[in-house]
Amino acid sequence: MGTLQGQTVVVLGGSSGIGLATARAAQAEGAEVVVTGRDAARLAKAQAALGGTVRTGQFDAAHETPMREFMETLPTIDHIFSTAGALVNDAGLTPPRGQLRPAMGVRFWAALYACKYGAPRMRPGGSLVFMSGTAARRPLAGAAVASASCGAVESFARAMALDLAPLRVNVIAPGYVDTPLFDALLGEQRDAVLAAAGSKLPVGRVGRAEEIADAVLFLMKNAYVNGTTLTVDGGGLLV
Ligand SMILES: NC(=O)c1ccc[n+]([C@@H]2O[C@H](COP(=O)([O-])OP(=O)(O)OC[C@H]3O[C@@H](n4cnc5c(N)ncnc54)[C@H](OP(=O)(O)O)[C@@H]3O)[C@@H](O)[C@H]2O)c1
Repeated sequence: MGTLQGQTVVVLGGSSGIGLATARAAQAEGAEVVVTGRDAARLAKAQAALGGTVRTGQFDAAHETPMREFMETLPTIDHIFSTAGALVNDAGLTPPRGQLRPAMGVRFWAALYACKYGAPRMRPGGSLVFMSGTAARRPLAGAAVASASCGAVESFARAMALDLAPLRVNVIAPGYVDTPLFDALLGEQRDAVLAAAGSKLPVGRVGRAEEIADAVLFLMKNAYVNGTTLTVDGGGLLV
């Protein structure tokens, strides 16, 4: 297995949840981490949690120009993890196109711009990891568009594994994970909903961000893992 010691790991969408846990885990293994997000306050909090001197980038990862400009500030990159994505309740497909577009687009365009502007700066042995979810294979009711965006990045990753070779491109597909994502989405119901979802899983609980981070680091470090989707869902796809 490779090591992250002395390597630069960029986490697009690294100011919270799974991205932040991955930055922490990479840092603990000796990597220099760079985290991004749109919200300045969230980013500052994450920066403080990671040690204050950690480099950050404040921009929307689905937008081309800021992604290009951000990547140009990085002298070298070894691994990129793109977590950015949008979840929209699209039951009945009633939301207007303006709301549906981010649910489909953010995950895909962030991955594409990470490849376009990040890959040329990556050192040999580098890799990209995109965020999908088990929703690609077991769609969530009322989230058809976001589920489709997960499928899109999985196909895109396999294609990029060929186009960017010998860089590697992989996908992480979590099931339910307890993160701040659910604070706004579920409000006061969040703990009860997550507990109910977890009780239906073979492992009896939902996942922790650190457990997904651990799997992302595996994808970065194992130099023979390429073009694959790693599911980390407590067995959720089995039931
Ligand atoms: N939690 C789960 O159960 C679960 C399961 C499967 C897949 N996922 C996926 O995993 C990803 C991360 O989820 P999480 O649970 O860790 O959520 P989270 O705690 O809300 O973290 C999301 C992170 O991504 C950033 N972000 C979101 N949109 C962005 C954009 N357009 N450009 C740049 N940064 C952006 C957020 O910062 P800003 O908002 O400040 O930009 C934040 O740092 C999402 O794509 C989600 O769909 C989550």
